[in-house]
Formats: sequence, C-alpha cells, structure tokens
Amino acid sequence: MTQSRKLFIKTYGCQMNVYDSERMAEALGGNGYDEVGSPEEADMILLNTCHIRERAAEKIYSELGRYKELKQAKPDLKIGVAGCVAQAEGAEIMRRQPMVDLVVGPQSYHRLPEMEARAGGREKVIDTDFPEEDKFAHLAARPKAKRGPTAFLTVQEGCDKFCAFCVVPYTRGAEVSRPAERILTEARDLVDRGVRELTLLGQNVNAYHGQGPDGRDWTLARLIRRLAEIDGLARIRFTTSHPNDMSDDLIAAHGDCDKLMPYLHLPVQSGSDRILKRMNRSHTRDSYLRLIERIRDARPDILLSGDFIVGFPEETDNDFRDTLRLIEEVGYGQAYSFKYSTRPGTPAAERAQVEEAVKDARLQELQALITRQQRAAQDAMVGREVGVLVERPGRMPGQVTGKSDHLHAVHMTADLNPGALVRVRIESSGTNSLAGVLV
Ligand code: 5AD
Ligand code: SF4
Repeated sequence: MTQSRKLFIKTYGCQMNVYDSERMAEALGGNGYDEVGSPEEADMILLNTCHIRERAAEKIYSELGRYKELKQAKPDLKIGVAGCVAQAEGAEIMRRQPMVDLVVGPQSYHRLPEMEARAGGREKVIDTDFPEEDKFAHLAARPKAKRGPTAFLTVQEGCDKFCAFCVVPYTRGAEVSRPAERILTEARDLVDRGVRELTLLGQNVNAYHGQGPDGRDWTLARLIRRLAEIDGLARIRFTTSHPNDMSDDLIAAHGDCDKLMPYLHLPVQSGSDRILKRMNRSHTRDSYLRLIERIRDARPDILLSGDFIVGFPEETDNDFRDTLRLIEEVGYGQAYSFKYSTRPGTPAAERAQVEEAVKDARLQELQALITRQQRAAQDAMVGREVGVLVERPGRMPGQVTGKSDHLHAVHMTADLNPGALVRVRIESSGTNSLAGVLV
C-alpha cells in the first residue's frame, strides 16, 4: 500500500502545460499523491514552468524562494521543477536553489513517478533527455473519473521552424506527432467521461503527421475527420497553427466538417516582409493574406486570432505601420500581442534591440487597435443565433455560462447542466461576454 500524500502543481504558460500537468498529476496518483489547492498543505510541490515570456527563469527562482520556509518546516517536502524552464536551466536550478529535489524536462514526464520515488533528502534527480518513446503512452492510465465538458488533448509537440525569437525548438525539441490510434483512444475515453469539446494541442499542431492505423501518415485534417465520427463529441478545435502548414484539406475541413468550430488561431507575428524575413518565418505578408482569403472562402464566418510581436530587433516605424495595416486588412476577433524580449540562445537575442519606450508605445497602439476589432467582432454577434456549450453556473443566480462556436463567452438565464449544447440568440454584448436567450 502506498500512503496517501498531497501534491500541489502550479502551472505556468500555455494550454499544453495545462494538459501536461493533468497527466503528471494522474501519473503521480500512482505514487499515492492526491492533488491539493495550496502549497502549504503539500508533501510535494511541482512547478510546471514556461520559458516563452521574459525573465521566466528569474520568476521561477523567486517563486522557489517563497517555498524555503515550507521546506524548513517540513524537511520531507519534495520540490520539483518541470516544463521548459527545467529543460533550459537543467542542473543550474539545483545549484541556485539546492532545496529543489527534482528537475524534469517536458519530454521525460513518463519517468516522473520513478524519479519522484528516488528524489528527496540528499538525492537530487534530473532528467532533461529527449527520449524516443511517446511519453503520453507511458504515463499511467487515467482513473475513470468524470470530466468537465471541455478538454485539451496533445497531438503533437515540438517545432522545427526555428523562428529567430523563439525558444520552443530548443526547450520542446524537434517536432513529434503522436500516432492517431492513441489519440482516438484517448478521445473516446474523454468523451465517455463527459467531454463534449476537444481542443487538439501542439506547438505546431497543423504540421501534425502522426502514423494512422493504416500505417500511413495522417494529416491533421484526416485526424479531425475521424475524431468527428465519435458519437457524443460535439466540437473540435485546434491550436496553435503555422501559416505554412495550413494545407488544402485542413482549409476544406473548416468548410465541410460541422464539428470543427469556426475559430482559427493563426499567428503572423508581423506585417512587414523585411521583419518576417529576419524572424525566419518563411512566409510573407502577401502569402498570409492570400491564405486568409482562402480560409474565409471555405468558412466565411470564421473568427481569426493571431499573435503579434512588436519591437523585434531592427523594426522601424514603417515596419510597425505595416503590421497595423495588416491587422486592419484581416480584422481579428482575438489576438495576443507581446513586446519582443530576448531569449538567450536564439538568433535574435544577438541583434540590435529596439528601445523599450518605443516598444511600449507600439504595443499600446497595436493593442488599442486589436481591442477595437475584438469588440467589433463580438458586437457583430448581436441578433445572431449561435451554438453554446454550457460549462458552468453563471455569476448571477439562475444563469449559466459557456462558449459560443466562435469562442465568445455567453451567459443566459436557463436551467441547464454543464455539457448541454444549446442554440442561443444573442441579445447584447458586454465588455468581455455576450448575453443571450435560449431558442
Ligand atoms: N518575445 C516576445 N514574444 C514572443 N513569443 C515567442 N517568443 C517571443 C519573444 N522572444 C510570442 C509569439 C508566439 C507566442 C506564443 O509568444 O508571438 O506566437
Ligand atoms: Fe516558436 Fe511557433 Fe516559430 Fe515554432 S513556429 S519556432 S513554436 S513561434
């Protein structure tokens, strides 16, 4: 019998990390751990870190500093660091924070239960390998617990694109696609447990090329079409995509696969060809715009989302204006924007940097434009009838809230359980959500 112990996981960064944390919690369940909501109660603290933002490692070191007293009060407390900072920093983490017992990179999570058993006391355990095997296949099977109506499912990891600003190819490694059969099995299991909407995850998800049951490589579109055959699964989404991997069959799927939702996150990063080239994006402003046109031909009401970087090295005011013009031309329903910040080891880190004040001003201007577009896209839903998947009770008594097909938050007065898929007529548009009535 393993004794019951308590695990606290703090997750930073992207949805892939959220998924990874779920899987790690389940795997450590096999070592006798149950998840708890605060570090004070925990017998083990695991930070699942992200390296994409500025000063990521420094933030983790200061977070770890906060656990010093906990560790002093409870010497058996195990502290682990996972995720992309673990991959990037490796043993350096233990040199700087000797109270850390375990460091595990994203490709080694299936080894975590065995590492946990060894770690503690004087035993420090590090694994930042890139092993060949599919870690998800080796993580312990989930208990048959009920799930909420939405879930993430990682289908692909890593990236071979090497954008000049990005650490992902270094921290997550080369691109690997999971075999289709494993994904289908996991999807069926999730649906059996109450999931109605799946978001397929990958750093470069539309480059998916996993082995199909027929022995051939499947595209993401093929995988989506097969997933769409699962009874009880109502909605499919995927993120994040690269423009160059937006294949014809995936575009077509947006037009003819009912379960594939009309929302696409397709980062362009910049609207200037000069900067795109220096970013090593291998697409142009024009090829991106033509691609958007084709996607909209297939699915006219699709809501587009993007990522933008301002102040990339050598970005002039003209380059920045090109980005604003591109945003005007596309019309985004949602976007994420960032000031460029250096990542040691990436090519752009070595180049002449744009002044901070200039970056600030550009970010503000870009975000104001995006906010206007976002609001316009949301307001345009008023009067329309949309599908809504109910996720939880709303803020007001008698209300429920969920997401529309276009991923807008929608609330309504109705007596419905999470998982209900309903048609709703939108009546008004607020700051961050829509209000509607059941039809
Ligand atoms: N600086 C600023 N933003 C970055 N991103 C990735 N690396 C950097 C960086 N060094 C942004 C990109 C990417 C998103 C996930 O994070 O826009 O699409
Ligand atoms: Fe990073 Fe995305 Fe570029 Fe890959 S495609 S290097 S994950 S920004």
